[in-house]
Amino acid sequence: MPLDHYCVMGHPISHSRSPWIHTRFAELTGQALVYQARDIALDHFAHSVQSFVDEGGRGCNITVPFKFQAAALASHTSERALLAGACNVLTFQDGQVLADNTDGLGLVNDIERNLQLPLKARRVLLLGAGGAAAGVLGPLIQAQPSHITVANRTVSKASALVARHQALATLQNTELLALDLQALKGDFDVIINATASSLQGAGVPVAANVLKPGALAYDMMYGAGAQAFLDWARQHGAQPSDGLGMLVEQAAEAFLIWRGVRPPAAQVLAELRLVLGQA
Ligand code: ATR
Repeated sequence: MPLDHYCVMGHPISHSRSPWIHTRFAELTGQALVYQARDIALDHFAHSVQSFVDEGGRGCNITVPFKFQAAALASHTSERALLAGACNVLTFQDGQVLADNTDGLGLVNDIERNLQLPLKARRVLLLGAGGAAAGVLGPLIQAQPSHITVANRTVSKASALVARHQALATLQNTELLALDLQALKGDFDVIINATASSLQGAGVPVAANVLKPGALAYDMMYGAGAQAFLDWARQHGAQPSDGLGMLVEQAAEAFLIWRGVRPPAAQVLAELRLVLGQA
């Protein structure tokens, strides 16, 4: 029987750990599949998806910069992908293209399962209001923290993101607030960096008094991009975490959608840290 084919599409893609993660998931769950990385030219995304479908591809992960285009080309989009305005998982089924977004649940699962910090009734600060922040706000609210502040350099973007999520927040009893980074008030149990500021060498865009003692300071990036934030957190008595666990957990949710089997994400995360020399 031919193997089922999956891939991750992005540009650039050579750094992607997704093939390693999904191949390991498949080995550990006894699933027969092939998962590869595909580097897609910027103006070829829709065409590349169609080619993969024509080749018999069963699903793909979508990464930068195609997450918005992927949401647009689907024939059905999940609630969470609609709320995020972006998609990181496509599933090809019965001639349909199904779009979903597992980034937010990946983040929540990493915090709650791997880092063992239940978000319920906590005070959360989300830094940033771009694509990365939009991808996680819905699932963060669904974890029912008591409060979430979305703080962004451009406050209008934070306000728009908050407005889009207000009904969900009301339903979950979570207070939701948009603020300018400069106007931040109070301290928080969990701080999540979803800004691109470190990529631009601009350092951490908030004062350390936003951290409660022992707060979790989580950067959604991993590797060099997360280092400045993690160093800052450590220097100020917070518990630092990079986003490698989120990467593995969002992949685990995609694998579950495609294969109906939950892979052992914590084990694969530990193995990946060894491979990357981080353990
Ligand atoms: P991504 O998909 O990674 O979220 P994005 O949509 O371009 O990328 O969003 C980048 C985020 O990082 C935004 O919240 C941006 O703030 P603005 O909306 O004000 O542009 C934030 N960001 C980028 N550079 C920053 C800096 N030097 N200081 C603070 N925030 C920064």
